[in-house]
Amino acid sequence: MTGKFDGKVVLVTGGSSGIGLAAAKRFAAEGALMVIAGRRQEQLDAAVKEVGEGTLAVRADVSSLSDLDVLIDRIRERHGRLDIVFANAGAAGAPTPMQQLTEADYNEIFDQNVKSVLFTVQKALPLLADGGAVVITSSIAHIKGIPGATLYGASKAAIRSFARTWSNEFKGRRIRVNVISPGPTKTPLHADIEANPNAAEAVAGMLRMIPAGRMAEPEEIAAAAVFLASPDASFITGVELYADGGLAQI
Ligand SMILES: NC(=O)c1ccc[n+]([C@@H]2O[C@H](COP(=O)([O-])OP(=O)(O)OC[C@H]3O[C@@H](n4cnc5c(N)ncnc54)[C@H](OP(=O)(O)O)[C@@H]3O)[C@@H](O)[C@H]2O)c1
Repeated sequence: MTGKFDGKVVLVTGGSSGIGLAAAKRFAAEGALMVIAGRRQEQLDAAVKEVGEGTLAVRADVSSLSDLDVLIDRIRERHGRLDIVFANAGAAGAPTPMQQLTEADYNEIFDQNVKSVLFTVQKALPLLADGGAVVITSSIAHIKGIPGATLYGASKAAIRSFARTWSNEFKGRRIRVNVISPGPTKTPLHADIEANPNAAEAVAGMLRMIPAGRMAEPEEIAAAAVFLASPDASFITGVELYADGGLAQI
């Protein structure tokens, strides 16, 4: 049987949980040689069992440039190249009114969501094959004006902008760059937000607004992200694909 990603080397950051794990499993099922990255070794070990024993799992904080160097070196040693980068790892932070935000909050969210994606892609580029694909994870939060999400929303707006600039900058190498923007999805990240008493009302209100009438399963977001990375999306670059049950469309 042939898969859409037979023999392709695919890096998924945050591939040990939630959307990234679901995507890694789907890429692997379509024949990809998988690399996943995350900070917690235990989560990585558990993910390898689900994605496949041949998976290269690298413990790395993707907001650390030296960790990214190690990650890219490990990929170079194992595979010598990359075909697809899904820079997906990110953090939401605790919902916080704007007046209470600190410099540390700012640094944390922009490091986790913006610096991480910028330097993951920058450092992957020399290994990335011409004609390859980059998918980066934003969120409906950057257009919905969610109370308490000043930093998260702004950081995810930067991701949307990256795809516009990079799809132009990388065109000489035919590397496509697209954004996946999930709506509320059943993952540990979202469970943390739901558990926060400051966010309960806003979250409940948002969930009532979803035309699909429910939250997403991680596999539903992964399907859209994997599509963007696949040959089926060969003429698609610079877009933002909302997998949000319609929430950001109304
Ligand atoms: N769930 C939602 O409702 C939702 C909605 C919109 C957008 N998103 C976005 O989707 C992406 C994935 O989120 P998720 O919901 O799947 O969350 P999740 O289940 O909590 O998974 C996050 C993954 O990223 C890894 N990670 C986080 N920070 C990292 C860092 N600095 N370095 C390396 N790995 C890191 C985590 O592993 P370690 O903790 O072990 O590092 C974990 O594997 C995020 O960018 C998030 O903003 C999620």
